[in-house]
Amino acid sequence: MTESTITIDAHIEPGADVDAIKLEIVRALTSTPKALTPKWLYDDRGSQLFDEITRLDEYYPTEAERSILDAHAADIAELTQADTVVELGSGTSDKTRTLLDAFWARGRLRRFVPFDVSEATLVDAASMLAERYVGLDVHAVVGDFNQHLPKLPTQGRRLIAFLGSTIGNFHVEERRAFLGALADTLETGEWLLLGADLVKDVDRIVTAYNDDAGITEAFTLNVLEVLNREFGGNLPVDNFDFVPLWDPTEERMDIRLRADTPFVARFEDLDLDVTFGEGEELRVEVSTKFRPDRLTADLADAGFEVVEFWTADGPTVSDPADFGLILARRVSDRSKSAAARR
Ligand code: SAH
Ligand code: AVI
Repeated sequence: MTESTITIDAHIEPGADVDAIKLEIVRALTSTPKALTPKWLYDDRGSQLFDEITRLDEYYPTEAERSILDAHAADIAELTQADTVVELGSGTSDKTRTLLDAFWARGRLRRFVPFDVSEATLVDAASMLAERYVGLDVHAVVGDFNQHLPKLPTQGRRLIAFLGSTIGNFHVEERRAFLGALADTLETGEWLLLGADLVKDVDRIVTAYNDDAGITEAFTLNVLEVLNREFGGNLPVDNFDFVPLWDPTEERMDIRLRADTPFVARFEDLDLDVTFGEGEELRVEVSTKFRPDRLTADLADAGFEVVEFWTADGPTVSDPADFGLILARRVSDRSKSAAARR
């Protein structure tokens, strides 16, 4: 039998784009309010902590999405007839195996393209998958999905999977721009599989981001260690409190770190002093929860037709659906897909 092949394209090289990265961090730490993009959460330790989060009882999204994949992976393989699965923000690609198994069982899968900012996680996942699917072409891409979508391989009939509700970590305008960029990346008739956490009982959501074991707190605080290490900083990690807030207007978690007492931190590599006032917050991540109609509308505006919208049940029959998995097809004309939903 033909061996699997593993190729790794690195679009984030150590030492490259230094000026742009420095500018991004200077802006993040000097804006009002101070706010980071979530990709800084995922160094090696952050990626491991996220993996632990996915196994917490409180963090329902992973198992909810897995249950939908278990139920519908075969439908996805049949409907899409894709021979290439691209996964954005792929992490460990743990749940993705359910999907890939269904394609593999039909003898249809040629290529898997995991794409992530975290190189170590990506390399581990690529070798695990190359062993599991002997003969598969694993073409891993180290990149930032806000910048490097045009670098995605274009061979084959593609399905892009964006799982775990990572779509919820964008702000509204960023999300719309991202969906538009995804549509531009795909040819008419190619596919998007999108996992999205849904609006539900607020306590259940807040508990998922404030677990008893403190793993989400450690995951969030770790971003301060990342900044200190990457930019020669001396942020006093112990001086910050973890603040996981529910924003009822935007229907999203808004996760912040709050400075207990005022201080000035020095970032040698940025030649920057950053002042934190008493109680000043650094926004680390938002995690939006979706209403199906709104998300379908955003997809239509971007140029996608929703073909299936599967959901996982909530904890009891009277609860709303917990999580959604959407299969959408790129259509030729953006205005047509938007008109179809009106
Ligand atoms: N898809 C997995 C992992 C979700 S965690 C799941 O469903 O469980 C979010 C993943 O996105 C992490 O692996 C992180 O490294 C990656 N990520 C975050 N920001 C990114 C960015 N800007 N570009 C590429 N990958 C990113
Ligand atoms: C990756 N992303 C979808 C997770 C979420 O639920 O927003 C990240 C996370 N942050 C804290 N817990 C999990």
